[in-house]
Amino acid sequence: TGAFTYDPGFTSTAACESAITYIDGDQGVLLHRGYPIDQLAENSSFLEVAYLLLNEELPTRDELDKFGYTISRHTMLHEQLATFYRGFRRDAHPMAIMCGVVGALSAFYHDSTDITDPKQRMIASHRLIAKMPTIAAMAYKYSVGQPFMYPLNELSYTGNFLRMTFGVPAETYEVNPIVERAMERIFILHADHEQNASTSTVRLAGSSGANPFACIAAGIACLWGPAHGGANEAALNMLREIGRVDRIPEFIARAKDKEDPFRLMGFGHRVYKNFDPRAKVMKATAEEVLNELGVTDPIFDVARELEQIALKDEYFIEKKLYPNVDFYSGVILSAIGFPTSMFTALFALARTVGWVAQWNEMISDPEQKIGRPRQLYTGSPQRDYVPLDQR
Ligand code: CMC
Repeated sequence: TGAFTYDPGFTSTAACESAITYIDGDQGVLLHRGYPIDQLAENSSFLEVAYLLLNEELPTRDELDKFGYTISRHTMLHEQLATFYRGFRRDAHPMAIMCGVVGALSAFYHDSTDITDPKQRMIASHRLIAKMPTIAAMAYKYSVGQPFMYPLNELSYTGNFLRMTFGVPAETYEVNPIVERAMERIFILHADHEQNASTSTVRLAGSSGANPFACIAAGIACLWGPAHGGANEAALNMLREIGRVDRIPEFIARAKDKEDPFRLMGFGHRVYKNFDPRAKVMKATAEEVLNELGVTDPIFDVARELEQIALKDEYFIEKKLYPNVDFYSGVILSAIGFPTSMFTALFALARTVGWVAQWNEMISDPEQKIGRPRQLYTGSPQRDYVPLDQR
């Protein structure tokens, strides 16, 4: 059994070659197609980043307009899918609905499931990017008992999403530009992160030739876990539970206690051992948005203080634990009005861009093979079957 290298958690195994995203965890560097994440978050739009991830280069004005038009043409969901939502309990977690609805897209869009055809692959990619805001917003609407809102394509990608989430048919919805910009930034910061667990899941599912809708549904399922995308929801629930600055030391002590399963959610990262560059932008954005919206939320003070205390604490210094992308995102999403249960669905919406870019890259690779990890067998040696009455 010694023929394979055993690498639990894949801490030192490169599973693919990729030209999409570069991370230097020691230096806190994250580049998309070579462009630093903070520059993209500051200057770019989410659709521009989506184009960049999919097509290798930043678009010209003309290319961006065409891309925006194409995406806008795919924003509606097949009407029959509304019935699918109605089969869920009203209190279903939005991520449970997302896993189901995105997987079900393969039953509706048969003309974009042939993965051997590059045109169909691109249509499926556009459909997924375009429909995720509609799907996520409908999950929210279903949970609050309000009517589903159809997309309005004169709005931006993010403006459209905000209207489908917070608008109602009886009233005109004015997109708040501060909220729109903050959402764009959150989406950009989540767009891709090379071979994280959900992206690796999408690649592994895709390696068997499964259709793209099924593969992205697999990614969504993986993202849901609290060690991954579910951390944004868990982090905000934690901040609310802490509630007050004077209760922080108690929670820091619990996080350090090896007998206690509690961890500081939104802290630590497999790859970043210096800082997570996304967390820096996220913190600055939280500051800006709360100021501009005039929202005061004690959990922002708790978050800032918790970060300060942890960064000076020997345990966190020694283990190189820093706030990650999920630590401050919840503060912003909460100020905008999203319930915590929607946080991971928003992560899924944004990461869909990275998933489809990575999936396309893999399928286009002539060296691509089905992913088939091996194992070190630790079970019983061969033995003979014992009839039931002799056991
Ligand atoms: N609080 C307290 N201790 C921690 C934490 C934390 N958040 N994270 C890691 N540690 C400790 C851990 O107990 C371990 O200690 P020891 O060496 O004594 O056993 C050491 O640090 C290394 O941790 P690990 O679990 O072996 O590291 P990993 O690379 O397998 O896990 C992680 C990375 C992100 C899963 C982990 O840091 C964690 O659970 N963080 C909280 C959840 C979270 O915020 N996840 C979001 C990650 S970023 C966005 C995303 O990917 O979706």
